[in-house]
Amino acid sequence: MNIVMIVGSLRKESFNKQLANTMEERFKEKINLKIADIGSLPLFNQDEEHDPPQVVKDFKAEIAQADGIVMVTPEYNWSVPGVLKNALDWASRVDKVFIGKPVMVLGVTPGVAGTLRAQTHLRQILSAPGIQSKVLAPGSNEILISFANEKFDEGQLIDEDTLNFLDRKVEAFIDFVKTA
Ligand SMILES: Cc1cc2nc3c(=O)[nH]c(=O)nc-3n(C[C@H](O)[C@H](O)[C@H](O)COP(=O)(O)O)c2cc1C
Repeated sequence: MNIVMIVGSLRKESFNKQLANTMEERFKEKINLKIADIGSLPLFNQDEEHDPPQVVKDFKAEIAQADGIVMVTPEYNWSVPGVLKNALDWASRVDKVFIGKPVMVLGVTPGVAGTLRAQTHLRQILSAPGIQSKVLAPGSNEILISFANEKFDEGQLIDEDTLNFLDRKVEAFIDFVKTA
């Protein structure tokens, strides 16, 4: 199963990137997780949507070929970072590569609310007509990681409770992708 991860932070020491790296390593026997390079995408310009720069074409092809998408996002000012929204805007036009794609949403913050507001916005964006992905239902599948400073060390998520929770949610996502 090939899963593309989209990380909403370009920061070198990003907790969200650390989470993505932890997942890539932890679940490698079960799924092939690969982080997409959304930092190289130019700002969306509708004039270019029919013949976008090659990096955009490559990104869209990566999404189109994936069995599912994992989105790992920080919260910026109660919403998703612009870099993540920019990637989704490119993907939402012309060939609309997100339509019907199974998506799992996660987020990490050093704060208390675990990126809840960003994830709520993200779920709304993922329902837009040009995106319409199949998102793992929030119900019991909200992965809101707060107090990051206490849960990460040396570039990895190390908090056992969070890792065990993550194991169960990734299993749920694998089942979701298989049946989507
Ligand atoms: C522009 C900006 C806005 C932020 N707004 C929020 C916010 O609304 N809620 C929150 O919990 N943290 C907020 N933060 C703090 C981030 O959660 C924190 O910087 C986090 O480490 C970013 O994710 P990263 O470690 O993956 O880069 C904000 C940070 C920045 C730089």
